[in-house]
Amino acid sequence: MLDLNGKNALVTGIANNRSIAWGIAQQLHQAGANLGITFLPDEKGRYEKKVQELVEPLAPSLFVPCDVQNDQQVKETFATVAQKWGHLDILIHCLAFADKEGLSGDFSGVSREAFSRALEISTYSLTNLVRSAKPLLREGGSVVTLSYIGGVRVIPNYNLMGIAKAGLEMSVRYLAAELGEQNVRINAISAGPIRTLASSAVGGILEMIHHVEKVAPLHRTVTPTEVGNVAAFLCSDLSSGMTGQILYVDGGYEIMGM
Ligand SMILES: NC(=O)c1ccc[n+]([C@@H]2O[C@H](COP(=O)([O-])OP(=O)(O)OC[C@H]3O[C@@H](n4cnc5c(N)ncnc54)[C@H](O)[C@@H]3O)[C@@H](O)[C@H]2O)c1
Repeated sequence: MLDLNGKNALVTGIANNRSIAWGIAQQLHQAGANLGITFLPDEKGRYEKKVQELVEPLAPSLFVPCDVQNDQQVKETFATVAQKWGHLDILIHCLAFADKEGLSGDFSGVSREAFSRALEISTYSLTNLVRSAKPLLREGGSVVTLSYIGGVRVIPNYNLMGIAKAGLEMSVRYLAAELGEQNVRINAISAGPIRTLASSAVGGILEMIHHVEKVAPLHRTVTPTEVGNVAAFLCSDLSSGMTGQILYVDGGYEIMGM
């Protein structure tokens, strides 16, 4: 049975009720996990208030600001986990960012600044968070991150984020090899296109969704809840033999050649 009772789960990446991380947090909560939620702080504190109201029904025992570009905040996040929980069982990395210029037009036009920012936030952040979490992750722990098929194949406009996801997927494999020593697992879910704040920045996201509806074996794209269910499985002992994997939750789109 899928049971996360007694497990402490830190979830990053909730911006609103469309966020994939929101779908994941709900499913982890339903399976009995004790939740900690991080949010991206902004100057006016709008994100904080919105996310706090949204997650209230899940009764998180931690709610902390964590901008992955801010080393001090990352440090403080895990110091809070150590102080309040003592240990961590589950880490959900569900965040990404690229400037608009990297998400449409000619890929060769991307600037050094946009390239570095996207890779820092979307790719390096996984390694950064895992390094901080490592001393706290208990045996049997699990880390899950989110990828997209645009990291493996060329998807029009996904451009810079494709490079970030390729690096992310390879990071999953290297981290899996390292964390296996302490019986901690790390896997990625490669989700089908979903309308969210982040994906609305990708040129032609609606066309991507319509294409999946036409071509994928299930003739539809997926929901954050469906992604959340697979994340809950990956965080549970039911998947104890799996690490370093990229699981496609995309209505089967990935298998199609034509
Ligand atoms: N929506 C899709 O179609 C789709 C498909 C496959 C994979 N994904 C991936 O799923 C993940 C979640 O994205 P989403 O689609 O739910 O969009 P979203 O906009 O709801 O979530 C993106 C999150 O990233 C956070 N973020 C951005 N910069 C940050 C920073 N510096 N520090 C901390 N957090 C930061 C935002 O606050 C937001 O919560 C991303 O990795 C995305 O690439 C999305």
